[in-house]
Amino acid sequence: MNQWKGASWAVEEKRRPQSSCKPTRALVASQLSVSDPLLLDDLSTPAAVVDLDVLERNISRMATRARDAGVKLRPHAKTHKSPEIGRLQRAAGAWGLSLAKVGEAEVFVGAGFDDVFLAYPVVGEDKGRRLLALSDRARLAAGVDSLEGARTLAEPFHAAGRTLEVVLKVDVGYGRVGVLPGRAVEVARQVAELPGLRLRGVFTHAGHGYLAESRAGVDEIARLEGERLVAAAASLREAGLPIDEVSVGSTPTAALAMRVKGVTECRPGNYVFHDASQVALGTCAVEDCALTILATVVSVPAPERAVVDAGSKTLSSDPLRPTPGGYGQLLGRASRIEKLSEEHGVVAVAPGEAFRVGERVRILPNHACVVANLHDRLIGVSGDKVETILHVAARGRVR
Ligand SMILES: Cc1ncc(COP(=O)(O)O)c(C=O)c1O
Repeated sequence: MNQWKGASWAVEEKRRPQSSCKPTRALVASQLSVSDPLLLDDLSTPAAVVDLDVLERNISRMATRARDAGVKLRPHAKTHKSPEIGRLQRAAGAWGLSLAKVGEAEVFVGAGFDDVFLAYPVVGEDKGRRLLALSDRARLAAGVDSLEGARTLAEPFHAAGRTLEVVLKVDVGYGRVGVLPGRAVEVARQVAELPGLRLRGVFTHAGHGYLAESRAGVDEIARLEGERLVAAAASLREAGLPIDEVSVGSTPTAALAMRVKGVTECRPGNYVFHDASQVALGTCAVEDCALTILATVVSVPAPERAVVDAGSKTLSSDPLRPTPGGYGQLLGRASRIEKLSEEHGVVAVAPGEAFRVGERVRILPNHACVVANLHDRLIGVSGDKVETILHVAARGRVR
């Protein structure tokens, strides 16, 4: 019998101070079997490890922030792709989830999530048909930024006598997708006229915040993110288009952008885990990072070089942002991963540090969202005790 599975959690839950914003870990169903290891030291490496205490604190803090700002929190679940973590976010007060792909929506709606916004320009009648098939079970919305794209969603919904809510993506400076503010009225009008669609609002993502050179730079981008989107919403309303939702969101800009008057919704994703890039951007401290890679030193060919069993297939090759600097920071050490191949992480050993073969290290990755997508399961721990398995159920659902 797995004696700590139910009972110890129950005790812990009783000790936990109750608050409307506090997610309860008991909602995360443990799937560990008796043969599963109980301690971090028992885990085979490399392993993606989530500190549940930090995860819960991150979820709580952002939920409180959104509640205090008077906006709806719609976390972007592409970061974790895990219904267990989505349930924690929902329990903490999230209104619904954001996702990017229809395949992710299929997984989350299948797991019981009934309010999903695809914050992505969804294009293709096949996608429209799959959304239609989901629409009996959940309130759905999809991002659009062109008439052509919107038409592909409108057609299957119109043919079925149904309506899909859509949200116009506006580019507030990132330069990726989204209509420029000057074209927002024109495109919104065209989209709103399509039978089978209802325009719910506008949304944006200030991804350029990740490249800002200073915290002041991030904050300025956050302010503009909110103000430019609110201005776009005002111009649409003046043109007679009812706009319910004004949705901003990225982890570095969330705290400020959500406080801009007129913003109604915020969609941060990375905040559940944070990572080395968020630390470098000043969004959080190392202690706020929930996802690390547990790895083993497999070779020390020279005093200045050690090699761990985590390469690009475990850590991803995403660069550190805003300024490139290796592929992962070793916790409690000055050393970091300087080079990667698929299954090797080459550590540049910092002066005064030494590694031995067989030693275990914890690595803070550069970009937690892509790391989670490389793993089938994340090991939930509290201290060095393994508590649960978090399934990355929507992993690889890119269609
Ligand atoms: C459209 C959109 N919204 C929200 C997010 C969440 O941003 P972050 O991961 O910085 O929290 C992203 C991230 O890529 C995104 O693309």
